[in-house]
Amino acid sequence: MRNPAAAYTDPLRFERELTILFRGRPVLVGLTCDCAEPASYLTAELGGLPVAVVRQPDGSLRGFVNACRHRGAPVLAGRGASLRSIVCPYHAWTYALDGALKARPLDWGFDDVPKAECSLHAVAVAEKHGLVFAQASAGASIDVDSLLDGMEIELAEYGLERYAHFETRVREWRFNWKLVIDTFTEPYHIPALHERTIAPDYDFRNSLWDAFGVGQRTVNFRASIETEIAEKPESERRLLPHTTIEYFLLPNTVLTHQIDHVELWRAEPIAVDRTRVWTSLYAPETPHTESARKHWKKNLDLLLQVTETEDFPMMERIYRGLASGAVKELVYGKLEPALVHYHRSLERLLGNQTSAKSGT
Ligand code: FES
Ligand SMILES: [Fe+2]
Repeated sequence: MRNPAAAYTDPLRFERELTILFRGRPVLVGLTCDCAEPASYLTAELGGLPVAVVRQPDGSLRGFVNACRHRGAPVLAGRGASLRSIVCPYHAWTYALDGALKARPLDWGFDDVPKAECSLHAVAVAEKHGLVFAQASAGASIDVDSLLDGMEIELAEYGLERYAHFETRVREWRFNWKLVIDTFTEPYHIPALHERTIAPDYDFRNSLWDAFGVGQRTVNFRASIETEIAEKPESERRLLPHTTIEYFLLPNTVLTHQIDHVELWRAEPIAVDRTRVWTSLYAPETPHTESARKHWKKNLDLLLQVTETEDFPMMERIYRGLASGAVKELVYGKLEPALVHYHRSLERLLGNQTSAKSGT
């Protein structure tokens, strides 16, 4: 498949991506355990639209545009728990957890603007299999299983709702958001780009790939799979400790099961050439001891050390080549099926049948 550089660099296409992919469809905003307790919350962006998702006292989730109805300040930041109400940090307009405006300091100054007309604007949310999705339009109804298109059968088996959020780190980069997802689509780059770091840990000669509608899943094997196969009868072999399994949730998320934990990689578009990368690590249970916390911190440090010194700096250099006009197109090989499927799926969702050409 040949993909024109403009798929990454064209500002008009970028605007269409925000409208169609990030605001016109559901987007994964986190896992259930990011806001598990009543009165906890998470915040995210849907193509530039700030949103907040709040766990209600009855256990359900509600989503809001994260902008105060007074003068637009974000009412919640980051993530958190134990909200008694939602208090805007600018002038302290105070909302109930369901988004209704409860109180305003010096209320007489707004006595011709009824409180009932000042609830936070709603966005649609849905939660299933431990995944939380939001969609910009309030009236949308999100059917998680049809969105996952068969992938939900595998995802449900991980029991993601029982995982514990360990830590999220965020960093901004100078490249188009799709390059984040491209990074994870193939193990073909591991022996070259990661020669000095993770290459010895991987058996990159084989990998598995399956499509689920516009989504997909890859299984990459660690070098330890050879011993597992050599030493154990088939009935005793375990797959998960010897693999990195990646679920691509369009448009901008990769959910990874790696050895003993789960990671979420989200690419938040800021501009055609600027992207915020969110990396979250989830442990199978809340780490209660110092040594457990050290273990997960070391894991996350290592992950980011590789991506932030090898993968993403390479993506920045690639983007400069694309944006310069010198690189007219990218070539995705037949040993990179996830890369091909990802971009074909985006084209399909964008309604561009012809811009990405496939060879034979
Ligand atoms: S902007 Fe929120 S109270 Fe003024
Ligand atoms: Fe990599």
